[in-house]
Amino acid sequence: MLGGPISLIEALVDHAASSPLTARRSGPLQGRLRVPGDKSISHRALIFGALAVGETRISGLLEGADVLNTGNAMRALGSEVERTGEGEWRVHGVGVGGFREPSGVLDFGNSATGCRLVMGAVAGCPITATFDGDASLRKRPMQRILDPVARIGARALSAGARLPITLAGAREPIPIVYRTPVPSAQIKSAVLLAGLAAPGATTVIEAEASRDHTERLLAHFGAEVMVEPAGEHGRKITLKGEPELRPAPVVVPADPSSAAFPMVAALLVPGSEVILTDVMTNPLRTGLITTLREMGAEIEALNVRGDLGEEMADFRVRASALRGVEVPPARAPSMIDEFPVLAVAAAFAEGTTVMRGLKELRVKESDRLAAVAEGLKANGVAVEIDGDDLIVHGTGRAQGGGAVATHMDHRIAMSFLVLGLASEKPVKVDDVSFIATSFPAFVTMMRSLGADLS
Ligand code: S3P
Repeated sequence: MLGGPISLIEALVDHAASSPLTARRSGPLQGRLRVPGDKSISHRALIFGALAVGETRISGLLEGADVLNTGNAMRALGSEVERTGEGEWRVHGVGVGGFREPSGVLDFGNSATGCRLVMGAVAGCPITATFDGDASLRKRPMQRILDPVARIGARALSAGARLPITLAGAREPIPIVYRTPVPSAQIKSAVLLAGLAAPGATTVIEAEASRDHTERLLAHFGAEVMVEPAGEHGRKITLKGEPELRPAPVVVPADPSSAAFPMVAALLVPGSEVILTDVMTNPLRTGLITTLREMGAEIEALNVRGDLGEEMADFRVRASALRGVEVPPARAPSMIDEFPVLAVAAAFAEGTTVMRGLKELRVKESDRLAAVAEGLKANGVAVEIDGDDLIVHGTGRAQGGGAVATHMDHRIAMSFLVLGLASEKPVKVDDVSFIATSFPAFVTMMRSLGADLS
C-alpha cells in the first residue's frame, strides 16, 4: 500500500506546474512520449470496480486530481481502493446497489465527470449523499442530472441545481427511457449507472453519439448492453438492469485529449517530430485528429492495435503547414475537449477556421468559448464568436506577448502554453495549477521534448 488517494493528490502533483508560467518560442520538439491514462476511462474503471463484486485490477490509471477524487468517493461509499504501484490500482467492489451512506461530503474538486457519474450511481442506491466541488464545479449545471435521476426515483434534498447538492437515492429505482437533451456522455452515463440498480431495461437515446466508454466497460464487466443506431448520428443504448458485475482487468490507454497538446505543439513548432505512444483511437474521441489532417497535418498512425475493448495506436507527428477548415457540428462531440487547442492550431493556419455548434463549451470547467476568444485576442489573433460558433482567422503566425487568464481550466492553461511555444513573443498563463487535474506531468513532459516553459 503506497498511500491513499488523498495523500496522492499532494504527492503526485507536478510541482513544476505551479502558477504562473511563461511559454517561449522553442526549437524543434523531438522525442517519444506516453501521455497519462485516459481520464474518462480512469473515472469509470474506479466506479465500475466499486460496483463489481470482488477485486478489479487497473493499470495505467490517470493519477490526476480529478480521478483521485473519484477514488476517494468510491472509498467513502464503502469500496476498498488501493494503489499498488505507479498507475496500478486495486478496487474491491461492493456490488450494484451496495454503496453505503458516506459519513462526509463527497468532494469532486474540479471534475464534473466524477461528480455526475457518481450522482448517477448513488441515485440507484437507498442512501443519501452530499456532492460538492471547487468554485468552477459549483458553477456548472447539474439539473441535467437531477432531471433523469428524479424520474428514476431519486430526490434532491437541497434547493437549486448547483453544488453543493444532497441527493437521496431511490429505494426502488424505476427503469426509464431517456432522451438526452444535449449530446453528453456524462448524462448518458449517469442514467445508465442509476439504471444498473433498476429492474428491467433502462434506455438512453442520444441524437448524436457521445463517447461510449460506459457502454464498453459495462459489457466488459459482464452487463447486458445493446447499442443501436438512432437517427443520422445518434444511438440508442439499452441496459438490462440488476446485473451482477464481475471484476475485470482494465488497462487504461493514453488519453487522446492529453495527447492533443504535444500533438498540436509538434505541428506548430518548426522542425518538430514527436511520437506519441499508446493513444486511444476510439472513433468517438478522434475528431481532433480528423480535423488536423484535413488542415494538412502530417499525423501518421503506427502500430494500430486493440486491448481489452479499446483500440490504440502510436502517432508520429511532424511540423506541418496548416490551412483553415470548417468543422461540422456533428463532429463536435468527438472532440468536445479539444476545441481550445484546435483554436490555437487554427491561429497558425493560413485562412479561416470555423468551428460550429459549440454551445456546450460554455458550461465546461470555464466558459471555454469566451476564454479561448479572450486568450487569442490578447495574443494578436483575430477571432469572433458568432452565436455558438467560433471563428478564427489564421495568418500562419501568432504575435503572442499576451497574458492569459485560465479561469480554473486545465485545458485553457495547456492550450495557451502551446500557443506560446510557437508565437513570436512569450505567452504568460496566470495559473497552471489546474493542469494537475488531468495531466500532472505536463510541464515536465513538454520540457523533455524541448519546450521552453519557465
Ligand atoms: C466526459 C464527457 C464530456 C467531456 C468530459 C469527459 C466523460 O463531457 O467534456 O471532459 O468522461 O464522460 P459531456 O458529457 O458533459 O459533454
